[in-house]
Amino acid sequence: MFKLRRHVFLLFLGAIGLVLLGAAVGATVLLSGALTTDATKQHFRATHRILELGLKYSVRAATDELAAPETDAHMRARGAACFREHCIVCHGAPGVAPESFALGMMPVPASLTDAAASQPPEWLYHVTRKGIRMTGMPAWEYRLSDESLWSLVAFVESLPSLDVRGYREYMESTAGARCEPRLSLPAPEEGPDVLLRQYACHSCHRIEGVVGPRVDTAPPLIDWPKRAYIAGVLPNTEDNLTRWIMDPASVNPHTLMPDLGVAPEHARAMAKFLLDPP
Ligand code: HEC
Ligand code: HEC
Repeated sequence: MFKLRRHVFLLFLGAIGLVLLGAAVGATVLLSGALTTDATKQHFRATHRILELGLKYSVRAATDELAAPETDAHMRARGAACFREHCIVCHGAPGVAPESFALGMMPVPASLTDAAASQPPEWLYHVTRKGIRMTGMPAWEYRLSDESLWSLVAFVESLPSLDVRGYREYMESTAGARCEPRLSLPAPEEGPDVLLRQYACHSCHRIEGVVGPRVDTAPPLIDWPKRAYIAGVLPNTEDNLTRWIMDPASVNPHTLMPDLGVAPEHARAMAKFLLDPP
């Protein structure tokens, strides 16, 4: 009995030793600067494969219970409008190159014809809605309505059937279609702080409860309910804060804070969150 316990103890010590050794090797590689962040250097093939696998299983798990709705010609036309407005810059289209900046991205945004042919609609929907971390693929959930997202899927799914001429003709015939922006609010499980992140407020402000860069471009939004004034001019009420977030220049024409195109419902939800943090 005593012998067995000693073995278990030694095994346990060995496991801890291995973990510590792994952490030390990892920290050494990280701090040595050997891991490049240059977008001009490519991944090892194995790294690329592992990242692809990670994406595959993450999206599969997230779309497990999702079922694509029926789509029609009207949705496909709206999807074409959204695609023209938001996606071609990076992904290009049949016979159309992405913008120059997108060619310098790593990973480079792929033509969506291939994804349309190889992935189910739920995949296209989820990835478009939620984005893909650390790739440059943005989340569109707070920019496009759910109807627009499924419309995009309907259009992207038709890409493999379009040649250059077919694509051009279809885009011309749907030139009047409109993409619908999103105005609805985050689901309760997301929490309203997602809006502060999705409008990049934390790229200039340090904000309580939001993980982001340690920036001092703008005043930190910490202990906000205790603040008497907004930007030194407006009393700190929900209405005034909503107004400031939507249109700071209407309060102070010389302010450095830009108009971020915040939807009214979103501005109010952010104001409520800042004034009454959880
Ligand atoms: C700023 C550049 C950028 C914009 C704009 C952009 N994407 Fe992406 N997208 C990427 C990158 C980078 C990836 C990851 C690399 C890849 O798989 O193409 C990606 C991946 C994807 C994928 C997954 C492809 C796959 O193989 O599974 C889909 C689907 C997608 N984007 C759809 C869209 C749609 C729809 C839009 C427009 C609403 C859009 N993207 C706008 C950069 C962008
Ligand atoms: C590009 C940088 C930038 C971004 C992005 C930005 N802000 Fe600001 N913000 C500023 C600057 C600079 C000020 C100070 C302006 C002034 O006093 O005129 C400011 C001021 C504020 C104030 C008043 C702060 C105080 O001390 O009185 C609030 C509240 C605020 N921003 C909220 C937001 C929210 C919410 C967002 C996201 C929707 C956001 N900001 C995005 C730069 C930014």
